[in-house]
Amino acid sequence: MKKIKNSIKLIATGTYIPEKVLTNFDLEKMVDTSDEWIVQRTGIKRRHIAEGEDTSDLATKAAINALEKVKYDKNLIDLIIVATFTPDYRSPGVSNLVQAKLGLSGNDITCFDINSGCTGMIYALEVASSLLNSGKYQHALVIGAEVMSKVIDFTDRNTCVLFGDGAGAFILENSDTENAYFYTTSCGELDKTLYVDRYIHMDGKKVYQFATAAVEKAILKVLNDLNLTINDIDKIIPHQANYRIIHSVAKSLNVALDKFFLNIDEYGNTSAASIAIALDEYLKSREKVSLEKILLVGFGSGFTYGAGLITL
Ligand code: ACO
Repeated sequence: MKKIKNSIKLIATGTYIPEKVLTNFDLEKMVDTSDEWIVQRTGIKRRHIAEGEDTSDLATKAAINALEKVKYDKNLIDLIIVATFTPDYRSPGVSNLVQAKLGLSGNDITCFDINSGCTGMIYALEVASSLLNSGKYQHALVIGAEVMSKVIDFTDRNTCVLFGDGAGAFILENSDTENAYFYTTSCGELDKTLYVDRYIHMDGKKVYQFATAAVEKAILKVLNDLNLTINDIDKIIPHQANYRIIHSVAKSLNVALDKFFLNIDEYGNTSAASIAIALDEYLKSREKVSLEKILLVGFGSGFTYGAGLITL
């Protein structure tokens, strides 16, 4: 596989988080669990749940948040990609609904969804940056959005404590410098370790083992491909699935835990939305720094995994 760097600029990020909060104490009343168990095993304290809103509503609101931050002319957008596995419908895609909800139905825009599990945002960034760099597209909206509560069995304590709803959006444009790189991969498996039919099903222990190895491997692959070391990276934005997975990766990479941005306590695992939400929150939390190197890393069903470097 060729190592092709991308010349893209992150213009703005945005999020939308539903208002309704479901705490661990609320879940204690629904299934045989405890706040202590959930916090110790996952780091999650709360998650947000959509009420009367579907995935395209969350995705659109995250996009509006990003557009408004930089007063971006939405009519410039010529590409919309949404990473999700909880779409409103099997068809049309969430991206088509976002186009309509943004009032852009009459515009010439390529729209499609990507289903790569929780790695969806990394896959979407890989595809968007390649399309931008092809020269054919100039202004992309890349969104990760999930209403996980639609596919959660709230009687299954193995899964219902882990997930939450939310959306995050990036506006991307072409740039003059090669400042991004994405690596995506999959190790297709048929064992049904993690899959979604009516509900999400998961063998937590097997996912945990896969995830700790995959996150480390993806980080090292990107560093190696770019001739960088972990010390060159200013912040790592990981998929927010479990505090202990990140803790374990930090330990084996021999880096301080605060190299990783974590907000899992507030949102739980928002799947394809989690990296976008976390990056938006990280950027809001820090002083503006130029030439900051940020590494994004994710894993999910498939099993898919991947990582990417963006320079801000
Ligand atoms: N409350 C109390 N007990 C529970 C709960 C709960 N919510 N859920 C499971 N248990 C019980 C199980 O029934 C089991 O009991 P048993 O031993 O009597 O059968 C026991 O707790 C399981 O304990 P452990 O196996 O030690 O739990 P573990 O430390 O592995 O933690 C967890 C479970 C949190 C699911 C962990 O395996 C994990 O985080 N895995 C990865 C999950 C993940 O990242 N998924 C998403 C990836 S991709 C995506 O984002 C879609």
